[in-house]
This record gives sequence, C-alpha cells and structure tokens, in this order.
Amino acid sequence: MKLTLCIEIGLLSHAVAQANFPVALNSTFGTAGSRNVRIDTGTYGPPVEEYHYFYDQWPIGLAVSKEGRVFTCYTRGTYAYTLGEVISETAEAAYPSLELNTPPRGLSNVSNGITFGSNDESHFISVQALYVTPDDTLWVLDTGRPTITQEEKISMPYAAPGGPKLVAINLTTNSINKTYTLPPTVHYPDSYMNDLRFDLRPNVTESGGGIAYIVDSSNEGRTGFIMIDLATGESWRQLNQHPSTQAISEDVPSYNGIPFYLRQQGHPLGFQEEGLDGAELDQYGETRYLRANPNSDPLANKNAFDKVRNLGQRGGNANGFTGDSLGNVYMLMPEHNAIFIYKYARIVQG
Ligand SMILES: *[C@@H]1O[C@H](CO)[C@@H](O)[C@H](O)[C@H]1NC(C)=O
Ligand SMILES: *[C@@H]1O[C@H](CO)[C@@H](O)[C@H](O)[C@H]1NC(C)=O
Ligand SMILES: *[C@@H]1O[C@H](CO)[C@@H](O)[C@H](O)[C@H]1NC(C)=O
Ligand SMILES: *[C@@H]1O[C@H](CO)[C@@H](O)[C@H](O)[C@H]1NC(C)=O
Ligand SMILES: *[C@@H]1O[C@H](CO)[C@@H](O)[C@H](O)[C@H]1NC(C)=O
Repeated sequence: MKLTLCIEIGLLSHAVAQANFPVALNSTFGTAGSRNVRIDTGTYGPPVEEYHYFYDQWPIGLAVSKEGRVFTCYTRGTYAYTLGEVISETAEAAYPSLELNTPPRGLSNVSNGITFGSNDESHFISVQALYVTPDDTLWVLDTGRPTITQEEKISMPYAAPGGPKLVAINLTTNSINKTYTLPPTVHYPDSYMNDLRFDLRPNVTESGGGIAYIVDSSNEGRTGFIMIDLATGESWRQLNQHPSTQAISEDVPSYNGIPFYLRQQGHPLGFQEEGLDGAELDQYGETRYLRANPNSDPLANKNAFDKVRNLGQRGGNANGFTGDSLGNVYMLMPEHNAIFIYKYARIVQG
C-alpha cells in the first residue's frame, strides 16, 4: 500500500509565524545546524515510502483515484495553478487545464474599496481539499478566498457568492460534470471550506443523489458544517458554532517546542480561532443527524446539537483525517509530527 502524506499548515499562519518568531532557531524550521530542542525523530512505526517530492508549489491537500492518479491542490496566492495532477516523482501539472485554473478577471476583485475573492463560478480560485469517490469522480473544494499580499501584509479577502464552490470532475473524460455554488445564507463571507466527505448511499436523501459534508473552519469563529444534497444542489448549515467545531478558547499550540500565538496587523497578540478543519465519516453510516435539512425539518439543527457525543480526547490539534473499514480514524497531528490512530468503538444507536 502506498502511503502519501501531506502535512497541512495554512499559508497564512505559516507566513505569520515566519514574520514574528525566531525561525532561525536550528531546532525548529531550519534544516541544518545543531539542535537546541529535543525533537521527535519520527522513527516510530512502519517505514515511510517516499512517493513524491514537491518543489514549486506547497500542497495543502491530495487525493488518489482508482487507477492511482494523484491529484494535489494548493492555496494561492501567487501560484500558477491551484489544482494539479502528479505527472512524475518530482513534478505536477495544472489540472484539468491551466485555463480552468486561471480566472480571466483575477483571483480577487475590489468593490467599493473592499477586496473580495472572485465570484467566478467556472474557474478555480483557491482549492483547499480534494476527494475521490468510488465512482471515480474527483471532487474539488474551492474556498474562493485567495491569500493576498500587499506591502508585505498578508490577508484573506471575504468570499463573494459564486467563488466558493464544490466541483465534480469525471476522471474518465477529465471534464467538469457539475458545479455547486452556495447562497450567502449557507456560505458566509468569512466561511472557509476546509475539508469534505461524501455519503453516496441513495437512501440518505429523498432525492437519492447522496450528500456532501463540508467543514467550515471560519477563522472568525462562525464554524460548522455545510451540507449539500448532490441531486438537488440544495445546501444548509449544521452545528453552527457548536463547541465540537470550535477551537478551545486561548489555545496555544506548540510546534517543535515553540508556542504559536496569532499576530495580525492592527491587532494585539491573540489566539488562533480557526475551527475544526477536517472530518471523517462513520463507516457504518449510523451517525446521521447532520443530514436533516432545517429547511424542511424545524428541529434539524436542535437535534444535531443534542446528539453530538464526545468520543474522547485527541491530544492536540488535528489537521486532516482519514479512516479505514475497520473503524480506525487516522489523524495528522502537526504538534507531534505524527499520525495518531483513533479506534472507533461501534456504538449502536437506539
Ligand atoms: C545554529 O547552528 C549554527 C551552526 O551550528 C550556529 O552557528 C548558530 O549559532 C545556531 N543558531 C542558533 C539560533 O542556535
Ligand atoms: C467584481 O465586483 C463587481 C461589483 O460587485 C461584480 O459585478 C463583478 O462580477 C465582480 N467580478 C469578479 C470576478 O468577482
Ligand atoms: C464519466 O464519463 C464516462 C465516459 O463518458 C461515463 O461512462 C461515466 O459514467 C462518467 N462517470 C460518472 C460518475 O458520471
Ligand atoms: C454527470 O454525473 C451524473 C451522475 O453521476 C451522470 O449521470 C452523468 O452521466 C454525468 N455526465 C457526464 C458528462 O459525465
Ligand atoms: C440505507 O440502506 C442501507 C442498506 O440498504 C441500510 O443499512 C441503512 O440503514 C439505510 N439508511 C437509512 C438512513 O435509511
């Protein structure tokens, strides 16, 4: 089995860290010199297979198709493309084409003096996450919110409806099958779609086309899930600002021994507010409360809130999840330079 890893560190927080912390410390981000802080050498567990090297663009997400094609995405910024396919051990190329990665009117747009992300529905702006479903469809999650650097200041503009979207690409024809955009009542200007999962069983919705679960990690604290009925395109929110989707207040993560606070232009020292940024679905399909649509079931949001169960401590922030058919959930743990495994104990619902 090929194991491909991607440690996700947001471009924004990385750049902030570089600007404000002594990154010259040999022990942390440097790759040479003596070490001052004890580090985990990463030698526990099975050997890691080196599969691909990234040189030009720093990836944020990846997905592997049935035939073993590897797709990667990159938040941008200045990168030439935001969705790519691995074409050799050391190179990737824009996918499906450079043209679809190049919004003709740019990545962002100034309206009444305020910069917004582009509202372009038919080009990729800033892709955060990818997923391949068993029918060999590549699902592309575009946040519509590029990172902008002006006079060395980094910012992320609010989204404009149309820019944030979920796109289905048929991997046989390499063409877009369907694009789902979201109304401003579901995707807020400060929403940030961070990861996605699917339940394609026909009986999970009345319309029979399956459902997408998207995590909104909104840095401004309006976290939750965005749900899309894939047959009708209807979308709704669930678990808005539920504690399970939010950062614990005044959380100070540490990476290789260095505590990280949030420093932003014009703000005092603060804490990273980014919410839950990944998810994995129960393989047994038993935990299903988010599927209820509050547009037709007035108790849908309340029921979902009431049914959240705490399955245990994670031991740090997790930056990506995947699971297997045995019920294991694998979590990328950047504070520990490790993958943690959570064994899901099946709980049968009454
Ligand atoms: C990093 O290592 C170099 C070479 O070993 C040393 O000269 C330098 O002082 C070290 N820097 C820090 C911040 O410890
Ligand atoms: C830019 O903003 C204007 C005014 O709101 C809007 O009409 C136009 O469609 C936007 N273009 C893009 C690429 O977002
Ligand atoms: C993708 O396209 C191929 C060729 O047209 C078609 O046979 C297949 O059903 C399509 N896949 C999906 C999931 O629609
Ligand atoms: C698009 O997807 C739908 C649902 O899987 C499928 O029925 C249709 O054939 C697809 N169209 C193309 C052009 O792939
Ligand atoms: C959907 O169908 C599967 C298999 O037929 C069944 O196990 C499951 O309980 C059903 N789910 C719902 C939500 O009805």
